[in-house]
Amino acid sequence: MSGHTPRETWWKTRSVYQIYPRSFRDANGDGVGDLAGITAGLRAVKALGAGIVWLSPIFRSPMVDNGYDMSGYREIDPLFGTMADFEALLAEAKRLDLKVVLDIALNHTSIDHPWFQAALADPGGPYRDYYIWRDKPNNWQSIFGGPAWSKPEGDSAYYLHLFDKTQADLNWENPAVRNEIYGAMRFWLDKGVSGFRLDVVTVISKPPGLPDAPDPRPMPLYHMLAGGPRLHEWLRDMRREVFDRYDCVAIGEGPGLNPERAAAIVNPADPMLHMIYHFDFVDHTGSRQGEDWDRVWFKSVFDRWDKGIGPDGWNSCVVGNHDLRRFIARFGDPKAETKLVAKALAASYILQRATPFIYQGDELGLGDTIITKVEELDDVWAKTTYRLAKSKGNSEAESLAKAVAMTRDHARTPYPWTPEGGFGAGKPWLKPTPNRGGVDLATQQGDEHSAWAFCHGLLELRTKDPETWVFGAYEDLLPEHESLFVYRRGTHGLVCVNLSSEPWPLPEPIVALLAERSCIFTSGDITTTQMGPWSTQVWA
Ligand code: NOJ
Repeated sequence: MSGHTPRETWWKTRSVYQIYPRSFRDANGDGVGDLAGITAGLRAVKALGAGIVWLSPIFRSPMVDNGYDMSGYREIDPLFGTMADFEALLAEAKRLDLKVVLDIALNHTSIDHPWFQAALADPGGPYRDYYIWRDKPNNWQSIFGGPAWSKPEGDSAYYLHLFDKTQADLNWENPAVRNEIYGAMRFWLDKGVSGFRLDVVTVISKPPGLPDAPDPRPMPLYHMLAGGPRLHEWLRDMRREVFDRYDCVAIGEGPGLNPERAAAIVNPADPMLHMIYHFDFVDHTGSRQGEDWDRVWFKSVFDRWDKGIGPDGWNSCVVGNHDLRRFIARFGDPKAETKLVAKALAASYILQRATPFIYQGDELGLGDTIITKVEELDDVWAKTTYRLAKSKGNSEAESLAKAVAMTRDHARTPYPWTPEGGFGAGKPWLKPTPNRGGVDLATQQGDEHSAWAFCHGLLELRTKDPETWVFGAYEDLLPEHESLFVYRRGTHGLVCVNLSSEPWPLPEPIVALLAERSCIFTSGDITTTQMGPWSTQVWA
């Protein structure tokens, strides 16, 4: 990885498909997705046209945060299967020419991890210093709500947890911790995985002395902690100890980073990581989302990151994942035809100068689910939100509404394989999103006009003409337009999207550009003067 990465490297030309293992496919009928289910489902990922599969955590875990609370770095959680099942998954991926990227939580472990248990049992022993302890907590608040410090029963000190109280932050200052994590990464790379998505990697380096935060609320705190003093040093260390030794990709989850700070990390002349994914579209505060979301802002994010990362740098493009309400619910229009909206949004991000990440179900236009009772919530963050809202005197209905508005469960429902569901034989662990008609894989694979087929076509463009659709320079041609998103790729690629339910005439300079090109892909009729509601056209 040291020095320049080749321009045509696979993690730029291939697209990523994110699988949430609990919810992808259940092979053994226990109601929870598993590795055998993923293995069986990889053909569908390949058929879509993705080339890299990112698996949310599959490691041993008590599953309070569905695997982001790891209790074993070198073990598969029995809920998902065995090491042999994982090896079978890798073999099938290899057969299909799919790369597998694992999600690793390295900022914290579960308090069930043997290291934490040893730290509790023997406060004078070596594992105590694997975590961050203080006799008196500072004012930091946990991202999930409530204080970021907890005192174990019978213990004299508090441990830091930026997330749930069962997710204790690791002390990266301790070289033994760093070596444990590097060793675990090499273990999986030696097995044949092709890289990692590094969970909240930007907050592993805490400020010396752990001072009070000027604004201790979760999001400002997150921003304050992002890119701490030793982050670069440790990422370089990680690169030397791990990434430089393999043909692999390192993708950093980058909450709190702006393009300039991200560019320093993925700087092609001295890359610490290969890609960072930013939070402008996945910010949980949701202030820019909802009915009247701001299209000009939406477009400006792509532009800002393309410019910020620079012509030699490389972006990833994550618009939806397992941590949010569904992409289409945040940036669509509930009154418009789902299929058209899904296509327009897909064309907005898949053809960017970046590696696109497709979150399972987004390719079908899968929307938010319906939650009517607190018992239907699974997400630890949503349950904490509900509990805190009630403790502050909100009514049952108000507390539930607050939790439903933010819960990550919307994106975690079982993947719809068929009109009936087809997830598995058992009762699914989370109630499926109601199928409002045609939002399932079988139906869409059989329909050449489906959202799935459209997404497939966009991914195929990247494969067939990488010069234009992967590497071509990016330019937003109508940054101020309130609804039309028209961008240029390379010398001849042109994408026209109407991000609204109103028809819009194409401005004259765009019409002139279309006259020199042919329409190679469209979600409806080809028109050179006017864009229909949520219509998409790709020209070259
Ligand atoms: C980010 C992950 O995407 C999220 O699901 C998790 O809860 C937090 N990091 C904590 O690990």
